[in-house]
Amino acid sequence: MINVIYLPKVNSTNTYAKALLNSGEPLCPYTVIYAKEQTAGRGRRGRSWHCHEGDSLCMSLILPYTCKSGITLLTALGVYKALRDICPNIKIKWPNDIIADNKKLCGILTEGTKSGTVVGIGINLNHTTFPTDIAHKATSLRLLTGDSFTPAEILNKVAVSVFDEIEKYNAELTDNAIDEYIPLCANIGREILWNGKNGVATGISENGSLIIKTEHGTEQVSFGEVFVSGIY
Ligand code: BTN
Repeated sequence: MINVIYLPKVNSTNTYAKALLNSGEPLCPYTVIYAKEQTAGRGRRGRSWHCHEGDSLCMSLILPYTCKSGITLLTALGVYKALRDICPNIKIKWPNDIIADNKKLCGILTEGTKSGTVVGIGINLNHTTFPTDIAHKATSLRLLTGDSFTPAEILNKVAVSVFDEIEKYNAELTDNAIDEYIPLCANIGREILWNGKNGVATGISENGSLIIKTEHGTEQVSFGEVFVSGIY
């Protein structure tokens, strides 16, 4: 049973969820924060996250584990499994973007606190246009399928699927989890550019790093910024 805390308006569901975790207030297992409107959504690497009321799904899951390495990739696996029936041509862009048509459909921001982990998920549902700075690299379920979606239907599917995935693997990136992840990962077999270097992604290591074969050997890249040839 999932406990959804609904907020009509908040700065960021992740910020709210972290404050709740740190307040020490007893929380039901499987708690999700969902906001209809998010005024200061946060993305990875200090970026902001664009939310448009009615078009975006903004949610944060509260997990009772201190941040384990598996959570980031397992969340992507959970979101992928929740959305693949609606939109079969999605892929995961390592570590945890969900993409289609080489554009971003969903972003995930994992943040640890001393009492647990917050996993923020932003999904573009019903956008038909985006602000000009992201229009070339963002897509929505509506643009991909032609259908409109209510946040409630997608929220439930995604929350159940992500909690399932994290519980199934006890939040650890096991060999089986990596075996599930790799065929869904858009980076594998593609040309990768990072830190002025380039190579081809060949796998995922046991700590979730991207394994890249270069002309000088093999390197592992942990959660930094990588560019994949042909993807935003
Ligand atoms: C990314 O940069 O790709 C991560 C984006 C994460 C956005 C979501 S929206 C819900 C939650 N609250 C936030 O402030 N950020 C995450």
